[in-house]
Amino acid sequence: PSKTHIEVLGQQFPVDDYTNITPAITSKTALKLHLQPSHPLSTLRGLIESAYPDFTHASSMSPLVTPFKNFDELSFPADHPGRAVTDSYYVNRNMMLRTHTSAHEVEMFKKGETKWLLTADVYRRDEIDASHYPIFHQVEGARIFDTDANGLKEVEEDNARLSSLLAQANIIIEDIPHISPTNPVQHDHDPVFSELVAKNLKLSLNNLILKVFGAASNISKEQPLRVRWIEAYFPFTSPSFEVEVFFQGKWLEILGCGVIRQATLDTAGVQNKIGWAFGLGLERIAMVLFSIPDIRLFWSQDPRFLSQFEDGKINVFQPYSKYPSCFKDVSFWVPKDFELHENDFCDLVRDTAGDLVEDVKRIDHFVHPKTNRTSLCYRVNYRSMDRSLSNEEINHVQSQVISRLKEQFGVEIR
Ligand code: PHE
Repeated sequence: PSKTHIEVLGQQFPVDDYTNITPAITSKTALKLHLQPSHPLSTLRGLIESAYPDFTHASSMSPLVTPFKNFDELSFPADHPGRAVTDSYYVNRNMMLRTHTSAHEVEMFKKGETKWLLTADVYRRDEIDASHYPIFHQVEGARIFDTDANGLKEVEEDNARLSSLLAQANIIIEDIPHISPTNPVQHDHDPVFSELVAKNLKLSLNNLILKVFGAASNISKEQPLRVRWIEAYFPFTSPSFEVEVFFQGKWLEILGCGVIRQATLDTAGVQNKIGWAFGLGLERIAMVLFSIPDIRLFWSQDPRFLSQFEDGKINVFQPYSKYPSCFKDVSFWVPKDFELHENDFCDLVRDTAGDLVEDVKRIDHFVHPKTNRTSLCYRVNYRSMDRSLSNEEINHVQSQVISRLKEQFGVEIR
């Protein structure tokens, strides 16, 4: 029986052609791992907040926002791919789960906040593997200055303070110009002021990274910390940057940031200000700092996971066991003129198997030359974080996946 309403966070919403949020997701919307005492995500939030002691700290905003707030207010174009039902979770056409903490920028600036951090759970439809989960956490940070002589003095003084802090640190920073032809100053900005603000943003984040990665015991203090700045594009900042940190032979992308688009401040009714914003993902950093090998562990209720952590302390996680994995393949014909998006397949598996699914890969794809039908084969890797799974249990889950595939997408199993 198709339902007419769904409940999210105690509220009833009418369903429509956009509705794609699954029970696996709704059941987690109230958990707020970033506020659970002693949880690694909460400790990391606290550490970041401690680097910004004079900022307002917000952390309990509802994840339900309008698409207008998540996208339009931030100058996303009408055809931006992030808006697609294959990429974002919609309650219905008028309500979605925020895809980023930037969704609250206008709201925060409207309240008159000029220096603030906001930590929250965010939601994106994606593939399934050990480093992707449809829910993760971000910290948004922002600071705005008056565009007068006082504001200018404030940035310059803060830049001097932050520069001298960095000068003493064991850090190598690969920098790029604050402004360039491909990463331009906004036409309504004074280029000198915009540069100073971009510099303040970079100095502030370099110091934050130093503090956060310096707090971990599994990161060598003899080796310099390596940070690199990369040109980026976001509809709601210009110039824009991404930051990567070098860890165990790999560059790890940890945040996006930039000089706030004046349109955002205009929408918030803020006048004569210029400033920066950043959005930083907590899980990737926490996985490195705490040596947590699989992103699903953050959601584990197992005391063997939770009891290893203490509030405010960064320590190395000792995996209690790696249970055997079990691969199951499913091959099927997709109905004619139907395109099955990988994210739709993944959400179906996630909703059926919960956190027992570790990885999903498409291992085959071909079009039959005569019938023109498409055949797909997916390999699902099942493994629990907490226990051994029996063959019986996995076979049962896999057969449920198969019947739901037939039911929801009309596929023909091969
Ligand atoms: N919201 C962006 C993201 O999730 C990050 C960002 C925040 C970029 C603030 C610029 C300014 O990717």
